[in-house]
Amino acid sequence: MNCRKFHLKNFGCQMNKLDSGLLAAALADRGLEQTENASDADVVIINTCSVRQHAEDRVLSHLGHLKHLKKSRPGLLIAVIGCMAQRLGKNLLDHDTVDIVAGPAQLPEVPDLIQNAFDTGNPQFAVTENIRTPDAPRRQQHIDRFEFDFDSDKNHIKSQAFIRVMRGCNNFCSYCIVPYVRGPEISRPPKIIIEQARRLAEAGIKQITLLGQNVNAYRFLENGKTWTLADLLETISQIEGVRWLRFITSHPGKFDESILNTMAALPSLCPYLHIPAQSGSDKILAAMNRGYSAGQYIELIEKARTTVPDVAIAGDFIVGFPGESDRDFADTLELVKKVRYKNCFVFKYSPRPDTAAWQLAPDNIPPEVKQQRNMQLLELINEIAEEDNRHFVGKTLEVLVEGPSKKSHLNAAENEQLPQLIGRTNNDYIVVFNGPLSLTGRFARITITKSSALTLHASVS
Ligand code: 5AD
Ligand code: SF4
Repeated sequence: MNCRKFHLKNFGCQMNKLDSGLLAAALADRGLEQTENASDADVVIINTCSVRQHAEDRVLSHLGHLKHLKKSRPGLLIAVIGCMAQRLGKNLLDHDTVDIVAGPAQLPEVPDLIQNAFDTGNPQFAVTENIRTPDAPRRQQHIDRFEFDFDSDKNHIKSQAFIRVMRGCNNFCSYCIVPYVRGPEISRPPKIIIEQARRLAEAGIKQITLLGQNVNAYRFLENGKTWTLADLLETISQIEGVRWLRFITSHPGKFDESILNTMAALPSLCPYLHIPAQSGSDKILAAMNRGYSAGQYIELIEKARTTVPDVAIAGDFIVGFPGESDRDFADTLELVKKVRYKNCFVFKYSPRPDTAAWQLAPDNIPPEVKQQRNMQLLELINEIAEEDNRHFVGKTLEVLVEGPSKKSHLNAAENEQLPQLIGRTNNDYIVVFNGPLSLTGRFARITITKSSALTLHASVS
């Protein structure tokens, strides 16, 4: 496949970003060159998400654009991989633009599928047939190996890395497609995770984020010892060079509170939890099959704040779940007032085929009500964050610098040597400030000069 070019477009979550990075590294290893420009490519790969209909619609509309490109570039291959490929399977091959379809578990096979398609011109198809049956151990080892081999410091923002600690999900929240596209929960062996962390640290990685759909459910039995997330965090925190360590995303239902003590005890473990409540109504939480009440959630957050005083809490909410009344929505607003989040993502409920909510409950909240609730909830979240962020003004904090901010060009003329940079604190606050580009990937001490709901402004101390 010498000198052939691939263009890779990613939709979806952090897991997908990670998969895209691994695949790009695997394709580069086979001699393919990555291009930012789809019109230069010999193969366009779309890594897809199924979590909401909107995510799938964006992919379908993208395929529409690619149809035109294909007309002007005969021989161009289009590969659809990831969650939507697993969900729609062969139906995607019926789309006359699509040549290759591969699910998330088939990521290691994608380079071969592309090669076969180039060699034979035939469509290629690989998804998991019985998605809820755990992969055989040999196959799991094969995926782990792929992950280990192609993970590198180059796949990430400078100095930062994500390591998957588990795949899949067993929670079956009634709205969620993930258990049906990413399969059952499987924790990766601690040995390989720790080895990966060590290698990344040697390559200059300073911040590691452990990733799992349900990361606090991490369990691995080895030589009579069950490894938990806390064990992993403790071991990785001892690796030289790892200054900051995080984990996402936590499920409030089975949250082992001992992890809070670990957070309080380990200086490198960042005081940050992404721990979605999804709703503040007990009725809706039960219908969502979340496994906790609003009261239990608030108690857990209070415990987190007493154990780790500077812990920042982030979350997700779904508005317009079937049957969500004004009263239920008011309960969500109440919960938000009590928790005082650093930030949240708010989503409008989107029915996903085959999930329990899709089967059992009609999508009966009108779109304009979903929209109104979405706006009202975001306004409240921002109002609280704006209030809480004021106390940062005048404080000196440490950030890990990610690089130029999106607005770095705005003041480039007067400040060519010191563009606007973006960094994050250990508890995930976004800070922008002017500084030399050479700070990218390094820690910097900055003093906050101004605050808003989502961003802190600062000057280098
Ligand atoms: N509709 C809307 N939002 C959803 N999410 C998951 N499934 C759905 C759905 N069917 C949201 C949840 C989750 C985030 C990743 O996406 O809030 O935490
Ligand atoms: Fe990620 Fe879920 Fe979307 Fe798959 S469906 S890409 S796991 S958010």
